[in-house]
Amino acid sequence: MTQPYDVAVVGEIYVDHVFSGFPTWPAPGEEVVTDAYTREMGGGAAATACGLAKLGRRVALVGLVGADDVSWFRERLAAYGVAADGLIVGDGATGTTISVSTAQDRSFFTHIGVNRQVAALAAGDGLATLRRARHVHFAMPLPRSVADAVLPVLAAAGISTSLDMGFQPAWLADPLNAPTLAAVDHLMPNEKEAELICGSPDPSVYLAHARRAGLRHPMLKLGARGAAALVGNTLVRVAPPKVAAVDATGAGDAFDAGFIDALLDDGDATARLRRGCLTGALSTRAPGALAALPDPHELRSFHDRTY
Ligand SMILES: Nc1ncnc2c1ncn2[C@@H]1O[C@H](COP(=O)(O)OP(=O)(O)OP(=O)(O)O)[C@@H](O)[C@H]1O
Ligand SMILES: [Mg+2]
Repeated sequence: MTQPYDVAVVGEIYVDHVFSGFPTWPAPGEEVVTDAYTREMGGGAAATACGLAKLGRRVALVGLVGADDVSWFRERLAAYGVAADGLIVGDGATGTTISVSTAQDRSFFTHIGVNRQVAALAAGDGLATLRRARHVHFAMPLPRSVADAVLPVLAAAGISTSLDMGFQPAWLADPLNAPTLAAVDHLMPNEKEAELICGSPDPSVYLAHARRAGLRHPMLKLGARGAAALVGNTLVRVAPPKVAAVDATGAGDAFDAGFIDALLDDGDATARLRRGCLTGALSTRAPGALAALPDPHELRSFHDRTY
C-alpha cells in the first residue's frame, strides 16, 4: 500500500505551559517559584505526532487550534517535520494546559477550547487525511458514533489503528464504549486507565480481562516500571532504560510514538514495548513533552545498551 503518510495522528492539541523543578507543592494561598519553564505544543496528539516524525516517519496531525495560534503551531510542527494539512482553525480558543511538577509528581490545569470539536473533525473533514496513512493513531476518547463511522472505513482500507484515550473515567465507564476498545488494533492504556477498565490495579488482571473482552493486542504502560503485554498465554514485561527523569509530561505519548514506530517495522510485542519504553523514558530527560524525544541514532544507541 503506497500512502503519503506513515501515520496520521488525530486528537487534542494544546499549548502546554510546563513548570517543573518545584521542591514541594504549595499549600492553598502559598506561592512556589521555579526557573524551569517552557511553552510548547502539547496534548497527546501533538506529542505522539512529533515523536514519530523525530523517528523519521512521515506524519500528519489532524486537530484544531484557535485562530490566534495557528501560525505558531504551523511553525512548530514544521520544525518537527509534521505535516499540518490536517490542522484546522476551530471556533474558539486553543486548548491550554498548565503542567506543574515536582520530581515525584505532576498536576494539570486545562482549558479544552476548540478540542471539543475534534470528534466531529475525525468523522468529517479530517477523515480524508486519516485515509492517506498506513496507520491511524487516535489520541482522544473516541465517541461511539465516530468509532462506528471511521473504524470500519480504515479497516476496509487496510489501515491499522491505535487508541490512547487518556485518563477518561466517564468515557471508560460508559458501556457504549466497550466495543471501541476491541475495535481498534492496539489500545494503549496506562496503569490508572487499565484499572478503570478492569477494576483491579494488578497488571496481569487487566491483561486477562482485556483478552476476555476481545482486545486484539492486550498491553499496558506501567510508568517508571515500563510496560507489559499478553502474547498468547505469555506475559511479556519490558523495563525502560535508566535515565535521569526530570519531567514525565508526555511520557505516555512518547511511548505511543515508539510503539507505533516498531509496529510499522512489523516488530513483535517485545520490540513494540521496548521501543515504546525507550522513547517514553528518553522523553522524560527534559521539561515538556517534546524537548528530549529521541532520534533514530539515539534510539539505537540506548536500545543496544539496554536490551
Ligand atoms: N520516571 C520514569 N523513568 C523512566 N521511564 C519512564 C518514567 N516515567 C515514564 N517512563 C516511560 O514512559 C512510558 C509511559 O509512561 P506512563 O506509563 O507514565 O504513561 P502515561 O501515564 O500514559 O503517561 P502520560 O501521563 O504522559 O499520559 C513508560 O512505559 C516508561 O517506559
Ligand atoms: Mg497517557
